[in-house]
Amino acid sequence: MTLVSEDVSRSDIAEDAERAAYLEGLSEGRWDLRWLHDDRPAWGAKAALRPGVGLTLKATNQVEPYGRIEARAPGGSMAPRGCVTEEGLPAMGYTYNSKYQVWAENVESLYDEAVSRQWDATRDIPWHDLEPLPPDMERAMCQVSTMLTEVEFIAADFPAMWSWQMNQHFHEVKLFLATQAMDEARHLEVFRKRALANGGGLGIAARTTERALASIRAADSYIKGSYMMHVLGEGIVLDIFRAGEFLSPTDVEKKIFRMCMQDEARHVSYGTMHLKYFLEHHPDPVEAKEELHAFADAAEPIIFRVFTAPSVIEPFAVLAGEGVDGIESGFEAIRILWVKIVEEYLRRCERAGFDRRGRCKVGTAAPF
Ligand SMILES: [Fe+2]
Ligand SMILES: [Fe+2]
Repeated sequence: MTLVSEDVSRSDIAEDAERAAYLEGLSEGRWDLRWLHDDRPAWGAKAALRPGVGLTLKATNQVEPYGRIEARAPGGSMAPRGCVTEEGLPAMGYTYNSKYQVWAENVESLYDEAVSRQWDATRDIPWHDLEPLPPDMERAMCQVSTMLTEVEFIAADFPAMWSWQMNQHFHEVKLFLATQAMDEARHLEVFRKRALANGGGLGIAARTTERALASIRAADSYIKGSYMMHVLGEGIVLDIFRAGEFLSPTDVEKKIFRMCMQDEARHVSYGTMHLKYFLEHHPDPVEAKEELHAFADAAEPIIFRVFTAPSVIEPFAVLAGEGVDGIESGFEAIRILWVKIVEEYLRRCERAGFDRRGRCKVGTAAPF
């Protein structure tokens, strides 16, 4: 019985007969040994160690022909790129078989960085330094933590829902997305822990936030989802993490934001460079760009609207104002943050060759 019937060129009968003959021959010392004598072009070539670093993914790609990445994946199986393939390997049904659909020029080094900078939300945060906060500050921190836990759910689901559709020929992208899923799991873990660690508990999940997350999930292609997730959504979250330094009531939260920030910067960097690669290598770049612009016209208001919900902006203002009595001055800081968030987003788009300045309907001035 076979569980895979498609694309198997050799019949089960021929396969079974060959297997039986092989197994019978084994008892008489007739080995196959084709694997021992195959034609392996890179025999003798070694991946170079980086002193003080180790063996990086990038270094293994410098061994020819293993680092040769075709614009179109030559097969659809799980055969590792560059290996010797038998005939009749089943196709896995990947939908992303072209390099431009998934690639970013920095993806190998981002993966190398990601694995070397993993951290532990149980041990690496100085939880024992948490101190009782005034109730308004604790509630504000817990509300921010609730919202961040919530958005990290989509960030963890996102790489998982697209990675399996990508051809193994581009394994670097799949490896990187696996690190992103782990990073995001740790982020939602650390923010949930923060909400529960100091007696505050979880706050409100806002409709506008949930609608934005649902829209990211609903994107009907990887490039649209990646633009909305990595460039737009996570870009904004990265600016929030950066602002965490002045928003944090204690060193515990400062450390949380710092640790999350280094992870988040990788996700945004991949997304920006992927967008660039996509637009530069698409077979019909003019039409592709226009389609993406039309998508961005709709996506930007959905994502930026998250930062108009009271349960999202007010706790930030309370943290920045160091209490509900300082909410007005806190709002001033949040207005400045808004300007920075929009400006950074427009710059990221520019870096990717996707100029949104003339089209983005989200104002650079805060709407509050
Ligand atoms: Fe995250
Ligand atoms: Fe992220």
